Amino acid sequence: MGMDERESLDERLEAKVEGVPSVLVSGPERNRVSRSVARPGLEEELFSTELPPEALARWASESDFFDQMVEKQTARPLDALTLERYRATRRPWFNKEFRFRVMGDLRGKRVLDVGCGDGSNAMLMARFGARVTGIDISSRSIELCKRRAELDGVGDSTQFICSPLETADLLEGAYDIIWGDGVLHHLIPELDGVLRKLVSCAKPGALFVFSEPVCLSPLMRKLRKRIPIHTDATPNERPLERAELAIIQRYLPRLEMRWFGFLSRMDRFFLRDNNFERASKPRRLAADVLGCTDRALLSVPGLQMLGGMCVMYGRLPEQG
Ligand SMILES: C[S@@+](CC[C@H](N)C(=O)[O-])C[C@H]1O[C@@H](n2cnc3c(N)ncnc32)[C@H](O)[C@@H]1O
Repeated sequence: MGMDERESLDERLEAKVEGVPSVLVSGPERNRVSRSVARPGLEEELFSTELPPEALARWASESDFFDQMVEKQTARPLDALTLERYRATRRPWFNKEFRFRVMGDLRGKRVLDVGCGDGSNAMLMARFGARVTGIDISSRSIELCKRRAELDGVGDSTQFICSPLETADLLEGAYDIIWGDGVLHHLIPELDGVLRKLVSCAKPGALFVFSEPVCLSPLMRKLRKRIPIHTDATPNERPLERAELAIIQRYLPRLEMRWFGFLSRMDRFFLRDNNFERASKPRRLAADVLGCTDRALLSVPGLQMLGGMCVMYGRLPEQG
């Protein structure tokens, strides 16, 4: 892409973010629209649309839940050890290191981070040279992302949009990488439309990288529920199942799958705040052993259903 073309894409992206129809409903009464992101007239527009009431109720509950989750967080710049970890990606038996290895050199890449949450991934990608657009339904998360981007010195190479993905007006054919970390399973009722939208935003040959809880066996799900490992989950949240994987594969038939999270679910018992980088050597060693054992076990056909997390990655064809 030439310099002029790149600049014009930048301008068009800026314009999209400025004019984004942020439809954010907050609170069960569905009439409180976040003032921090709402533009004049939005409220009337929202309630005159033909959006199904279930979608509005779901967005309200999601944004409330994640607003409360990020409220506890303080904006801090990325830890140097975290940066080093994901730059080097020496341990691909860890889910996120594997994904950063798959993405490779991010310099100059345009990334859409869908359901960007507190911005941890967006900050890393921007620090590695990508131009990142993050989108999330939670206004507090978006505020936190913007504060973090300033602290990390990546304010100019990041944009954050507060909107449900389903209604966001994103630029078509603009992104080299579409990244979603734990978001598709929050969009199950809209998965078909969401995938169509994500494919339309991607450039030909773009890379898709998703990491999602997936359950291929109802028996495994029952067993997992019996093991008392706490996770922060929204009401009614569930892993993706075969039917949803089929929808994803219909839009992205070339996706490969890598499974994680069987024994390594135990990490949280010895890694405080799930922080590997700052843990003691014996604790890191224990996490490495669980991760490597998972990698060996979960690459055996038939045993994959033991893994609770699936990384789906692959490219669109170069020609539409
Ligand atoms: C499990 S969190 C993952 C956050 C982040 N990707 C991470 O890895 O930390 C799911 C995120 O999806 C967002 N989300 C849920 N429904 C959404 C929707 N319809 N549109 C956009 N974002 C949504 C939530 O606000 C939340 O931040």
